[in-house]
Amino acid sequence: MSDGFLKKAYGARDAASTRELYNDWAASYDAEVGTNGYATPGRCAEALATYLPDKSLPILDFGCGTGLSGLALKLAGFETIDGLDLSEDMLAQAREKGVYRSLSLIRANAPLSHNPGDYAAIAAIGVIGAGAAPISVFDTLMNGLDKGGMLVFSFNDHALADPENERRLCDWTDCGAAHLLFREYGDHLPGIDLKSNVYVLEKA
Ligand SMILES: C[S@@+](CC[C@H](N)C(=O)[O-])C[C@H]1O[C@@H](n2cnc3c(N)ncnc32)[C@H](O)[C@@H]1O
Repeated sequence: MSDGFLKKAYGARDAASTRELYNDWAASYDAEVGTNGYATPGRCAEALATYLPDKSLPILDFGCGTGLSGLALKLAGFETIDGLDLSEDMLAQAREKGVYRSLSLIRANAPLSHNPGDYAAIAAIGVIGAGAAPISVFDTLMNGLDKGGMLVFSFNDHALADPENERRLCDWTDCGAAHLLFREYGDHLPGIDLKSNVYVLEKA
């Protein structure tokens, strides 16, 4: 079991130090999370595949990191995946996976710049919560979906420990602005005994 960066990853930090953390982690990220059995990308990709049968429709992989999430989406059958990330070094690793149509850098708190109709779904896999993106990103992603578009995302145990995160999800579902199609608790990083919820939401 390896816990080099994982040991320090889950502290609260601002966008600049988040970018620095992931730039420093980029070269060893796949090995470290792989050794610890990183399961959430595969769980998210399979969940989305259940609700989005047309795999030719483009998907936006927000916070794509080194591309493990894109790889899982590709393995689940999705053909057209664009990636966005805060860290140029994570994006460089993602480029080597060869699974993305495009990869772009995004500033923290920047609005999404795609056009309506560009994406049938957005993925944010291992992205929102302590050590990565703030919960405000959740609204940005929901606002970036078309009516009927889907958001597949995860909250790990650290994210679930902060009630504000699931509360933000309920803000959308309670008023009928989105429908929760799927929620499942399961393995995230079994090597460090961390689990996650995987969700699929459909924008109403
Ligand atoms: C734990 S990694 C997950 C990467 C990938 N989705 C995966 O499953 O392996 C979190 C990623 O989110 C990115 N990130 C953190 N905050 C972000 C933000 N505000 N906007 C875009 N990406 C962000 C980080 O740079 C990092 O690559």
